[in-house]
Amino acid sequence: NWTMASFAKETIEDIKKTVGGQKVVLGLSGGVDSSVAAVLIHKAIGDQLTCIFVDNGLLRKNEAKTLEEVLTRNLQMNIRFVDARERFLSALAGVTDPETKRKIIGNLFIEIFDAEAGKIEGAAFLGQGTLYPDVIESRSAFGGPSAVIKSHHNVGGLPETMNLKLLEPLQYLFKDEVRILGKELGLSDEMVWRQPFPGPGLGIRILGEITEERLNILKEADAILLEEVKAEGIYKDLWQSFVVLLPVRTVGVMGDHRTYEFTCVIRAVNSKDAMTADWARLPHEFLARVSSRIINEVRGINRVAYDISSKPPATIEWE
Ligand code: XMP
Repeated sequence: NWTMASFAKETIEDIKKTVGGQKVVLGLSGGVDSSVAAVLIHKAIGDQLTCIFVDNGLLRKNEAKTLEEVLTRNLQMNIRFVDARERFLSALAGVTDPETKRKIIGNLFIEIFDAEAGKIEGAAFLGQGTLYPDVIESRSAFGGPSAVIKSHHNVGGLPETMNLKLLEPLQYLFKDEVRILGKELGLSDEMVWRQPFPGPGLGIRILGEITEERLNILKEADAILLEEVKAEGIYKDLWQSFVVLLPVRTVGVMGDHRTYEFTCVIRAVNSKDAMTADWARLPHEFLARVSSRIINEVRGINRVAYDISSKPPATIEWE
């Protein structure tokens, strides 16, 4: 793609000029935007870039591990992985209100990120994968960890000791352009075609209290859906597809005994920009397969529902 090739070239030159011999830190979320921003900045300044990935335990099954492999092996970037799973779980213990969950997850992320970034001596820039719609989007937490930092810094400012300047090389691009740019920079299809994933992750896909047990149940069910969506060849066509766990017990039968377990909901939507969305008309045979796999393979779930609500008035996420 000619346009993106020249955009990449020019932007790399710009970054070189702006950064000079200084250092950049960037928070990787595992999503398309922060990954493309990282690769672009890395092409410009190499090891002057340090990426920080905070594992909050709220990612999809195996996601953190896969990311670690893809990013460090294939991209050979300087990445610091912070295992913060326990910290997030304990900070979230007993919390049920969705906005409170978002605040706790966002603030703890910033705290951990800042502490890690503070260890990088002489860091002068904060790299972010902010896109054009993020700049105009009013929802403060939209766009994942990098946008969380952005909104936080817009409000409170960076810790004074750090005094980082923002480096946002994607700020004039839309999502589809970022995907083309990502391909241009050599990222795999799997990476550039990732569906959007919210910063608070599975934390807002478990209704009510988040516990380790519930997280594990949701991860298993969600992994089955994802696997089937990819096998069906519809992953790219769907804006988002995921499972929501309702900690509501219903009665079922398994063999000759009664079960009393949780319900989960499959959510799959078509959308252009997440502002509006329509529930996907998935084939009944497909839904039947996913449902029977989840009920048979995931202990803790005995009922599967399909969400047929569009946005508005429903939202894409359940919290
Ligand atoms: P809703 O549920 O409002 O979601 O229809 C619209 C889009 O935004 C994502 N989303 C979030 N992303 N932090 C994020 O980074 C959040 O707190 C958040 N809440 C919703 C959602 O996945 C969808 O793509």
